[in-house]
Amino acid sequence: MTLIPLTELQRDIQKTARDFAQRDVAPLAAELDRESRFEHALVTRLAELGFLGMLIPEEWDGLGLDATSYLLALEEIAVADASAAVLMSVHNSLPTQMLLHYGTDAQRERFLKPMARGEMLGAFALSEPDAGSDAASLRTQAVRDGDDWLLTGTKAWVSHGTHADVILCMARTDTSDARVGAKGISTFILTPDLPGFSVGKKEDKMGLRSSPTVQINLDGCRVPGDRLLGAEGHGFTYALASLDHGRLGIAAQAIGIARAALEASARYATERKQFNQPIASFQAIQFKLADMATRLTAARTLLHAAAAAKERGERITRFSSMAKLFATETAMWVTTEAVQIHGGYGYVTDYPVERHFRDAKVTEIYEGTSEIQRIVIARDLLAAVSRGDVDGLLTD
Ligand code: CAA
Repeated sequence: MTLIPLTELQRDIQKTARDFAQRDVAPLAAELDRESRFEHALVTRLAELGFLGMLIPEEWDGLGLDATSYLLALEEIAVADASAAVLMSVHNSLPTQMLLHYGTDAQRERFLKPMARGEMLGAFALSEPDAGSDAASLRTQAVRDGDDWLLTGTKAWVSHGTHADVILCMARTDTSDARVGAKGISTFILTPDLPGFSVGKKEDKMGLRSSPTVQINLDGCRVPGDRLLGAEGHGFTYALASLDHGRLGIAAQAIGIARAALEASARYATERKQFNQPIASFQAIQFKLADMATRLTAARTLLHAAAAAKERGERITRFSSMAKLFATETAMWVTTEAVQIHGGYGYVTDYPVERHFRDAKVTEIYEGTSEIQRIVIARDLLAAVSRGDVDGLLTD
């Protein structure tokens, strides 16, 4: 049963994703996490299902599906393995969407088509070691050299940057005035074969351990002029607009993690006996399960309302931040309760909830921390107030 009305096609996609995730992804998740191992075969399997081009129109070799279908599939992958889900989310939401919306036909032909078919994996490079929440303070510079650009700087926190074939990278093209800030940033389409491009430090993370997160070093990296995406100086707004969609994906990932933790906890509570009865017979446990399920359902409902607004072509900045904020804090809360229900067994690797707990944490941090989501939501609300738009407080 679901509170979200689904079409037959959406149900089919959800079932395909669930069958695949439970059969091919879930059995490997704990081992990949333990060994911090990236499994490239997973990319191939996701590509075969079309899951790396779900939101790309068929004319660019994607499946041309709606946001709801994509988020349902992503949730199923996240239930099985949150590391696989972040790969699917980043690729589908950020680099492919940027190419689709701002690329030239030649760029779409060369990069978007193979990315939609899953033959090229896409990554996103906005953050830097000293530019996280304040993304507009990034310092990587791009200077013209004839028809080319030379990029110098270090990008940070690049998901699956070790295996990415195409990286959408934000760099500063206008350094004339510190006040230029966000307006002096442009987007470049990088590939690892460019001279001066190298993969740097790999992070040793608490969770999502089978998703390699790396720095990318650009040492006078020579980028051909036709790799500039869209208009010079518009890169920051392209990145933020893409993050509006990316944040829906992270919300779906968080919901999947929370669901896995809830399912494991409900199962455990019926099997585990203390005081001569299954712990599920105690109200203390029942109340936890009830609250976990209620918050999870609320998060999913908010996410799919935001996805429906996106499908209607509405501006979703506030609602995608709300969905991400609520879903990711729900995931952290649900996984904490899941560990508590499991007691000592929740604290060891024999049971999956300690992995879910570790995986949940980063969803409150990447693609904008919870604090940044609150800033985005509050700014939008206050803008409605200053317009005197009472309706705007609850709508856009
Ligand atoms: N869509 C389009 N344009 C937008 C926008 C949006 N959602 N939000 C803002 N803009 C535009 C503004 O209109 C403005 O343009 P104009 O000057 O032309 O009007 C420009 O962008 C700058 O906006 P702000 O003045 O609001 O910028 P700011 O410096 O105050 O920053 C912020 C705003 C919300 C704090 C932003 O910096 C932010 O979201 N920070 C978090 C960064 C983030 O999410 N990073 C995640 C990196 S990806 C990742 O996590 C790794 C991974 O692979 C998973």
